[in-house]
Formats: sequence, structure tokens, C-alpha cells
Amino acid sequence: MPAYTLAINGKKYPVNADAQMPLLWVIRELVGLTGTKYGCGMAQCGACTVHLNGAPIRSCSFPVSAVQNQPITTIEGISKDNSHPVQKAWIAEQVPQCGYCQSGQIMSAVALLKTNPHPTDEAIDAAMQGNICRCGTYPRIRKAIKKAAGTPLKTSGQ
Ligand code: FES
Ligand code: FES
Repeated sequence: MPAYTLAINGKKYPVNADAQMPLLWVIRELVGLTGTKYGCGMAQCGACTVHLNGAPIRSCSFPVSAVQNQPITTIEGISKDNSHPVQKAWIAEQVPQCGYCQSGQIMSAVALLKTNPHPTDEAIDAAMQGNICRCGTYPRIRKAIKKAAGTPLKTSGQ
């Protein structure tokens, strides 16, 4: 099987994998970082979101052969102790319900705030629409993103 070197969360990981193996499988099964979740496997739900070169991607739909030696960040890489502002806001707003979608949600939110530090409701909805939450935590997600951004919250409808 071909050998690849992945750069994940600032560390190098040599892996042997089929060229078409999805990055998600490699991250979870070969590297052992299980914070990134499998939802649909078809780039439809966002549960598997990680950053590649700083931008959010669906890791279920990227073959390992396409990503080697490019910086990848998983949920484990954004902080060691839940101290990232987005994680703190998620905790303060008690966003998760079952929690399954949440690492993908957080990774999308972190990417959004990097490119748009004070997003409007519309910008949040546009950036987050590919991240599905079966528990319907969307209003709390929006609140937490605004808290992390330091944007004043409206008092109703959120
Ligand atoms: S598991 Fe990748 S988008 Fe759903
Ligand atoms: S918190 Fe349950 S799917 Fe989002």
C-alpha cells in the first residue's frame, strides 16, 4: 500500500493507505484522532469537517492522496484544553445536545470567524448551512458564534 505523510495539528504522521481512502478514515482509523465524526460519507452533513490549509473541507470526500504534506487541523488541534474562544462560547451557551455534529460545527465556526470576525446572522447561516444538526441546535450555534466574535446579541428571535 502506498505511504503518505500527513501534517495534522502540527505533527507529521506517516500512514500506509489506499490512495482513495478518505481522509476521514485515515484520521480516525490510522492516526487515531476520533473527534472528527462520520455522518453521511457524501459531503452532505458536515460532521467530518476539518481544515485543510486553513479552510474547512469535508474529510469524508477527500482522498488521502490529495492532501499529503498540507496542513490539516482537526478538532483536537484547535486547543488542548477547550480554551479556544469558539469552544468557550460553545460551553457558555451549552450548544451541544447529543453532540455528534458538534466538532464539525465548531470547525466550520472557527473557519468562519477567521475570514469574517464579526459575521451577521445571514453570514453565519450561509457559512454554517452545510453543517446539519439533527438535534436542532442552530439557534444556540448562532448565539455561540456571536459570543465568540464579541458581537452584541439581539434579545429575541435567536
Ligand atoms: S460525513 Fe462528511 S459530510 Fe457527512
Ligand atoms: S447536537 Fe445532536 S446532531 Fe447536533
